[in-house]
Amino acid sequence: MPEPAPLLALEAVDAGYGALQVLWGVRLLVRHGEIVSLIGPNGAGKTTVIKAILGLVPLRRRPAGGAIRFKGERIDGLAPEQVVRRGIAVVPEGARVFPEMTVLDNLRMGALAPRARGREPQSLDDVFTLFPRLAERRPQLARTLSGGERQMLAIGRALMSCPELLLLDEPSLGLQPSLVRSIIEAISRINERGLTVLLIEQNVHFSLPISRRAYVLEQGRVVLEDAGPALLESPHVRLSYLGV
Ligand SMILES: Nc1ncnc2c1ncn2[C@@H]1O[C@H](COP(=O)(O)OP(=O)(O)O)[C@@H](O)[C@H]1O
Ligand SMILES: [Mg+2]
Repeated sequence: MPEPAPLLALEAVDAGYGALQVLWGVRLLVRHGEIVSLIGPNGAGKTTVIKAILGLVPLRRRPAGGAIRFKGERIDGLAPEQVVRRGIAVVPEGARVFPEMTVLDNLRMGALAPRARGREPQSLDDVFTLFPRLAERRPQLARTLSGGERQMLAIGRALMSCPELLLLDEPSLGLQPSLVRSIIEAISRINERGLTVLLIEQNVHFSLPISRRAYVLEQGRVVLEDAGPALLESPHVRLSYLGV
């Protein structure tokens, strides 16, 4: 039997901003049910990978190759809203939420996608089970939340769209260690319930153990790829990302 198409496949992706090329021949696979991590230093191009998937930066056309596929179908060249409509949700860098809206209304905004219609009550239940603190704070304005709660809200809002693939861009950035752990645990639980995850996370100590596979991106190129726990043991990652 042939292997089923991966959920997401980046094939020799070149991308950048104007004259600046940031990504060079990036290949990356995410299979159904996996958590896949993407790690790398600041400026390596991790966020640009997410922007390329979402159609926020165009691919550079090479003479041959250069494609992004979701469930086997090309999505490069689609507008961002079309990519999202196919079932890809993102929690962007910095957990942007609507500050002057309540927690509940922020979550409802996430359920406006056509694919989420009719599933809002169930999705809300699921989000509040995952993050009981959001349930307690549902009438509160989002701007009054702590950093950790805002990150939970951003993740919850993405889940409300009933995605098949969740992209997370540094969800624990700026959070204290105990919150980092609880965010990573929540991502693990989200995955156990069947959602596939592509995770950008600098706290490799927390993120790699829960990652089926992981990629190291440096200066826009994938330089290493392995099972998450194995990568955590690799001399390169230990030296560059853990300082040991
Ligand atoms: N909107 C932009 N316009 C021009 N250059 C950008 C833009 N966004 C990012 N860059 C550049 O692209 C490179 C990769 O950035 P980014 O993908 O944000 O890296 P990372 O997420 O790994 O820190 C950096 O050199 C950055 O300065
Ligand atoms: Mg980034």
